Amino acid sequence: MKGGGGQYYRAVHEIFKASQSAATIKRVLNAVVRNIIEALGVDGCTVLLLDSTRQHLIHSAAQGLSDWYLRKGLLDAQKSLGENLEGKVVEIADATTDPRLQYPALAKQAGIASLLSVPVMKKKGEVLGELRLYTRHQRHFSREEKGFVISIANLTALILENARLTDLVRQSTEAQAEAEGNRTVLIPDLRKPLTFAHPSEEELARLLDFYRIEWLYEPRSFPLQQAGNGSHGMFTPDFYLPEFDLYVELTTSKQRLMTAKHRKIRLLKTLYPQVNIMLLNRKDYSRLLAKYGYGHFAGGSTEDIHHVVFSHAQIQRRVRQLAKQISRDYEGKPLLLIGILKGVVFFMADLMRYISIPTGVDFMAISYYSASASQAVRITKDLDTSVAGMHVLLVEDIVDTGMTLNYVLRHLEAHKPASLKVCTLLDKKTRRLVDVPIAYVGFEISEEFVVGYGLDHKGGYRNLPFVGVLRSELMAEGSTDIGNDAKGGRQEAVLQDK
Ligand code: IMP
Ligand code: MG
Repeated sequence: MKGGGGQYYRAVHEIFKASQSAATIKRVLNAVVRNIIEALGVDGCTVLLLDSTRQHLIHSAAQGLSDWYLRKGLLDAQKSLGENLEGKVVEIADATTDPRLQYPALAKQAGIASLLSVPVMKKKGEVLGELRLYTRHQRHFSREEKGFVISIANLTALILENARLTDLVRQSTEAQAEAEGNRTVLIPDLRKPLTFAHPSEEELARLLDFYRIEWLYEPRSFPLQQAGNGSHGMFTPDFYLPEFDLYVELTTSKQRLMTAKHRKIRLLKTLYPQVNIMLLNRKDYSRLLAKYGYGHFAGGSTEDIHHVVFSHAQIQRRVRQLAKQISRDYEGKPLLLIGILKGVVFFMADLMRYISIPTGVDFMAISYYSASASQAVRITKDLDTSVAGMHVLLVEDIVDTGMTLNYVLRHLEAHKPASLKVCTLLDKKTRRLVDVPIAYVGFEISEEFVVGYGLDHKGGYRNLPFVGVLRSELMAEGSTDIGNDAKGGRQEAVLQDK
């Protein structure tokens, strides 16, 4: 075991010593980071300080984290563990999926499993920044460990309070040079608030925001140096889209600039063959989005969407997690996944792909005589497989009133499976009329009618890569609040023709 009294004492002593010497604030923060890593045996640590607008967090000292991770866009103080701003300690057990992180995909790429974030707070509760600890394996911090980190955070706040703000700024700037070539890095680019260099960049950012596609603005600069050929300076692509592992450089129409840009991009591709970069014209935004299933060229009528509820990447992350859990729970048992057509096909395909144990699959189809009558469900396609002795997992796209599920579960129970459980991607808990037990839930959602990722409205929108809410005008027409799958045969013929 790492840590304990002796280590804790040594850490406090070292940090205090650094603060008493003529050291720059930067050095003191480095001492904080280094000593926390040593005392607790964590893999990485950073001190983040709020900038003057109090809207952004700046990595002011860091160790054990890759440079590109530290350079991920500007941290929005509200979005990135906003609870810290209220003085709360935030503990994240699984950094790759926790919605409180601003860039979970990047955390995953950086191999971060858990993190602990503690506010650096003055005595009146004013938050100056945060102290964050990162681990590569999932870790739970004991009360004693948390207490230690809180004490160090308080000590750090005291030291910062003592340093006059002007000194702090001057010292930090000086320290930048010092940080070059040092394992501990300061990120000068992140000191300026996020302002776009060009309106078209902002336009693309808004578009990406709409689809909840994660983006980073100018997160990384590539030195364009070629052996024997001298330096061609740096190249900083405008955006990075972690979900697609894609850099995007927006083009201007100025020919003179274009030629230079093309040359740089060619050089970048030669020097960094693993880097995916796309040169994008304003007119081409829809081309880029369509490539990934978004926008009106993608064939999914995304302009009918009022807002996106779960992005493609979010869904994939959650489905992978469910699959992992299912694989663990059903290890060594004969598993049969049963889906109810048609809404479930996207979810079923992804879930099955991510399940790592042998599994069978079968489908049922049902239709409804009327939208409201509970017993008006009829099976139009029964199973091909016998469920007797199998461990059956009934997979659903969405559970609303629970009527469908209730009916199908009773039908399956009659065929004596070894066990019978339910997995649904979406759960509209508040609309439940029949209480059905659900073992695995992807996401709970509100009562709003959603489409995409297999879910339809009158047979349409199934092929959207995300789950989103339709514009209300479109919902008002025709049927009420139940989709094609639920409302039954009426639409079925239309669909099969497609
Ligand atoms: P339940 O029997 O009321 O639980 O209805 C479940 C079925 O209704 C689902 O399998 C879907 O086919 C459909 N459904 C319920 N809510 C939605 C929605 O928001 N979008 C699309 N289909 C839905
Ligand atoms: Mg369904």
